[in-house]
Amino acid sequence: MRMYDIIEKKRDGHPLTEEEIVFFINQYTADKIPDYQVSALLMAVYFQDMTAGERAYLTTAMAESGDQIDLSAISGTKVDKHSTGGVGDTTTLVLAPLVASLGVPVAKMSGRGLGHTGGTIDKLESVPGFHTEITNEAFIDLVNKNKVAVIGQSGNLTPADKKLYGLRDVTATVNSIPLIASSIMSKKIASGADAIVLDVKTGAGAFMKELEEAKILAEAMVSIGNQVGRKTMAVISDMSQPLGNAIGNALEIKEAIATLHGEGPEDLTELCLTLGSQMVVLGEKAATLEEARDKLKENLTNGKAIDQFKRFLKAQGGDEAAVDDPSVLPQAPYQLELPAKTSGTVSNIVADDVGTAAMMLGAGRATKDSEIDLSVGIVLNKKVGDSIEEGESLLTIHASNEEIEDVKNKLYESIEITGEPTKAPKLIYDMIT
Ligand code: URA
Ligand code: CA
Repeated sequence: MRMYDIIEKKRDGHPLTEEEIVFFINQYTADKIPDYQVSALLMAVYFQDMTAGERAYLTTAMAESGDQIDLSAISGTKVDKHSTGGVGDTTTLVLAPLVASLGVPVAKMSGRGLGHTGGTIDKLESVPGFHTEITNEAFIDLVNKNKVAVIGQSGNLTPADKKLYGLRDVTATVNSIPLIASSIMSKKIASGADAIVLDVKTGAGAFMKELEEAKILAEAMVSIGNQVGRKTMAVISDMSQPLGNAIGNALEIKEAIATLHGEGPEDLTELCLTLGSQMVVLGEKAATLEEARDKLKENLTNGKAIDQFKRFLKAQGGDEAAVDDPSVLPQAPYQLELPAKTSGTVSNIVADDVGTAAMMLGAGRATKDSEIDLSVGIVLNKKVGDSIEEGESLLTIHASNEEIEDVKNKLYESIEITGEPTKAPKLIYDMIT
């Protein structure tokens, strides 16, 4: 088999066979095909697209290119959740213990990553003592015992995706549905879950800014998952404004604690109930979505969800006292209010700009080696649709110093107040099964 022929075939719009896709992925992972040939193939895929079958072959070949996590020693149906990413997306911190409190095993492999705030692991590490450096055996034992554990991502998960993503980044081929969908799904499949719930975000703070694009991506990922034998469904949710109120690492832990007590922001709570119900049904702990939702709501108010969170933190070295006394968490030295300049209704809080402001405060990583300040971030006091008086606080900035005029200006630019009545945006746009 020759890479030249594969490029030519795709260039001319013909579907590739499983053998051709496996050949290209394996040879490229082994450094036996040069970047320039793979670049040409990626560009051909960008223009010619891939059939549903090709997408599934590509995903499987990438998933099999490195380590695959074997979760078969965990009893029950393992359900994973994946979000395409957004600003202040606190859902994993809430969903992991919440769904586990109903007996669904949550074996979460998570990363740090670049972004406006840290990843799930960074956020959890704001609880003193909490760590994810545990062996695979310890991880599996913890999930069997407590129903929930989080481990850092294995270094050799989907090496084909790492190489391809780096190449796509410099050849203008990131934005291709078959390539995005196979990239995301290969990592989920290699991580070993039996069923996958996808939270595909749409709006200013999302990877897919337009609803139509988000739907097409969701359908592509659901199709791949189901073709390769993992029950998969997707929820399309709003990311035009940040989710919940908190954007920051320790601040999002506090928000998750409030939500697990049944006292969280309305949008975050609703999205967690929507995604959680799907996970509980896929995990066979409820027969219908209504039953699942009722059970989840019950555990948010009867203390079971928050107790599960405490057990989870303690099992991985974390100080469970943080749950009852959030002053144990890192605190920023300065809390500064941002007063509204006019009265009216909040009509827009541009998610990615607020994310950038959080990053300017030090909440996220610009490069792989940047240090994160776990204490800093932003807490929104108003959301889209809320009315506000001139001088009233729009949001509270948690900062390491007082010299933050640039952050304040960025935040003023990202929030609009109008004299017209404005409604909160829709939270859930669609479900794809
Ligand atoms: N996230 C991924 O993991 N892969 C992509 O291709 C795009 C976003
Ligand atoms: Ca949040």
